[in-house]
Amino acid sequence: MQALVLVGGFGTRLRPLTYHVPKAMVPIANVPFIERFVDYLEANGINHIIFAMGYLPDPIANHLAKRNSKAKYEFVIEDQPLDTGGAIKNAESLLNERFFVFNGDILTTIPLSEILRIHEQKGALVTIALTPVDDPSRYGVVVTDEDGRVKAFVEKPPKETAPSNLINAGIYLYEREVLNYIPEGQPYSVERGLYPKLLEIGAPFYAVAFPNDYWLDIGKVEHYMQANFDILSGKAPLPIVGKEIQKGVWVGENVQIAPTAKIEPPVLLGDGCVIEDEAKVGPLAVLGKRVIVKENAFVHKAVLWDECVIGKGANVERCVLGFCCQVEDNASVEPDRAYGCGERITLVSV
Ligand code: GDD
Ligand code: MG
Repeated sequence: MQALVLVGGFGTRLRPLTYHVPKAMVPIANVPFIERFVDYLEANGINHIIFAMGYLPDPIANHLAKRNSKAKYEFVIEDQPLDTGGAIKNAESLLNERFFVFNGDILTTIPLSEILRIHEQKGALVTIALTPVDDPSRYGVVVTDEDGRVKAFVEKPPKETAPSNLINAGIYLYEREVLNYIPEGQPYSVERGLYPKLLEIGAPFYAVAFPNDYWLDIGKVEHYMQANFDILSGKAPLPIVGKEIQKGVWVGENVQIAPTAKIEPPVLLGDGCVIEDEAKVGPLAVLGKRVIVKENAFVHKAVLWDECVIGKGANVERCVLGFCCQVEDNASVEPDRAYGCGERITLVSV
């Protein structure tokens, strides 16, 4: 089965991280997102993947080129952002009679076979996966009848007006015929254009909900952090790369932990990390490769990309640090935000 993955967005809500790294390449528990995503697709029987790309395509394509896989990969690069529908139409010449489409920023275990089963049973033109969320206003909200037929699709409704807490999970199964409803060579949104159109003409448009499967859109800083922590805590049943040296503590190669350092699980330390005396790391910390946490520093609920250096007595809580950030001695980060690659944090706590 074929899949088209939309990885062309700017990743605006992950800035400043995405000024240098496309959203599809941000590390999720030390593994680039796209790698986890392609693992998921291949485990679900997808053997041909088309990537619809726009912003910063090279790191994604270069990474995938190194992958040893039986699946076939193809890349389509847009000259201008075409939005979700325009990006799908732009790949038309490569698409089969039936294919899956994915938002390229979701971390999930939703089984594709179940979507296919419902799609065939209903004779659908389009079938989409749904997932429940607490605040539906930031997503595409979907209402169905008892038969699973879509009755309403409202993209990002004003707060408190959402007609349901079931939202579009960003996984679609399409019959090729649906491409006839998408205009060519221009930006077009499936969420605001195609789906309302299918409802208007009464096309067989179905949805299937997956309340028990893990699902998260990693496209916001808060959710990006959550995805990392969900993997460490086991809430997201996905592999952790590293050796578990004690319950909930995973380490890569050549990690040095000083005898007086405190590691509080769950924690993941990438290759070559150094944790100095009296430093405290965890609970909930993901450190990439060669991160140095100096004496008496504290790292908690944080995701640190490769080569970050945390100064003596510094405090790093509830944040993401891009590659090669430096936190000065005794400085504190601002919580609930991301710092871009190479930033130097000098703010001293009072
Ligand atoms: N190729 C290409 N070109 N891809 C794009 C473009 C484009 O111009 N614009 C966005 N994308 C990709 C993004 O990279 C992302 O993977 C996906 O399309 C969805 O875009 P987002 O910007 O992440 O949208 P969203 O998260 O606000 O909303 C979408 O996802 C929700 C689920 O996470 C919608 O589909 C909602 O209906 C849905 O609930
Ligand atoms: Mg998104």
